[in-house]
Amino acid sequence: MFYFRYMRTKHFIRYTFFDKITFPRKFKKNIRTLNYLKNMKILVTGGAGFIGSNFIHYILKKYPEDQIVNLDALTYAGNLENLKDISDDSRYKFVKGDICDKDLVNELVKDVDVIVNFAAESHVDRSILDGENFVRTNVLGTFNLLEAAKNNGNKRFHHISTDEVFGHLGPNDPCFNESTPYSPRSPYSASKASSDHLVRAYFHTYGLPVTISNCSNNYGPFMFPEKLFPLFITNLMEGKKVPVYGDGMNVRDWLYVEDHCAAIDLILRKGNVGETYCIGGDAEKTNMEITKKIIELMGKDESSIEYVKDRPGHDKRYAIDFSKIKKELGWEPKISFEDGLQKTIEWYKNNESWWKNIKSGEYQEYYAKQYGK
Ligand code: NAD
Ligand code: DAU
Repeated sequence: MFYFRYMRTKHFIRYTFFDKITFPRKFKKNIRTLNYLKNMKILVTGGAGFIGSNFIHYILKKYPEDQIVNLDALTYAGNLENLKDISDDSRYKFVKGDICDKDLVNELVKDVDVIVNFAAESHVDRSILDGENFVRTNVLGTFNLLEAAKNNGNKRFHHISTDEVFGHLGPNDPCFNESTPYSPRSPYSASKASSDHLVRAYFHTYGLPVTISNCSNNYGPFMFPEKLFPLFITNLMEGKKVPVYGDGMNVRDWLYVEDHCAAIDLILRKGNVGETYCIGGDAEKTNMEITKKIIELMGKDESSIEYVKDRPGHDKRYAIDFSKIKKELGWEPKISFEDGLQKTIEWYKNNESWWKNIKSGEYQEYYAKQYGK
């Protein structure tokens, strides 16, 4: 009985421990819920986007017994090309749909052990042009998923958030950590902050077993070419200039996407419910440093730089103190910035058709609106 109560309150006990114990028959049904630590059925939302698709690849490779249902609305940022190599894998199922669709979400949540919520409108510049979808998906969509998790037996819920909820830092400020007060400054980060608050509220009010991770800037394969890295790499491949906002002195902390996936995986299996984990790359760089490095590696020169109008409310600096996840779960980034950048450039060089398809569509309208050309 003690084991049983502990499982219900903590929700997380290592399967290895349970494997060694023979339980009375009447507990068998409940014990089965623990098996998800070993062969989990995961609902991934937003799995056709950049980080979600990398996460699905990561899990299916690492855990042969896990199953994944990927719910994605296939907005402009969702791309099934990211997952075509696993489309016939019997452990993987794709469902096209919106996280705001209550009935659909409820049906899908019934049948899984855990939910990992990546689905979001994710690009700051788009949120400045029009924030409505950000509030809808990021706030209402998360609310909807939380409701479904609560109404279907308090399912384990991991929410992917961002360091942008903390606002921004001056050059000498200490890094963000789990205790930093929220102070979002763009419609995107305000919508993500709202969703984080909802997730925490469901933990306190309903005992929903949640965790949240707030991660710094990711880069790597399958990143949509509206964001700094892929935009600059692909513009240079097309012989175009790279549009640097303001003076290029804003600072971001960069993490290779696979390292982010490893951190999420650890939190999912070993994290303590109700907790937040900050994830960072220990790689603070100014945009100008990055721009110059990309230009050099692509064999171009600084005449490729074009200074353009600054982003309104442009956050000055992000930096993450990830000592909590390092201490508690043993996570730290494995891929150095130099290696990650090389790998990323190689990937875009080897996958021209992937990004050319994107850049030839709706993207051109967005580019004209954002950069005035
Ligand atoms: P992305 O824009 O590449 O992908 C978002 C995915 O969500 C797309 O596949 C899209 O189709 C899907 N989606 C959007 N609205 C939906 C809806 N209503 N219903 C179902 N699916 C929907 O984003 P990303 O860069 O992969 O970011 C994923 C998550 O990670 C987001 O929550 C983002 O806030 C967070 N995050 C991103 C970064 C980063 O550097 N990219 C860093 C930290 C946190
Ligand atoms: O910090 C985590 C966040 O990182 C995530 O939550 C967001 O989803 C993700 O988009 C990213 O947000 P940023 O705004 O930091 O990323 P972006 O790639 O848009 O911009 C990185 C920096 O580069 C930023 O200081 C703005 C600058 N920039 C960006 C673009 C697109 C330019 O100078 N020129 C550009 O054209």
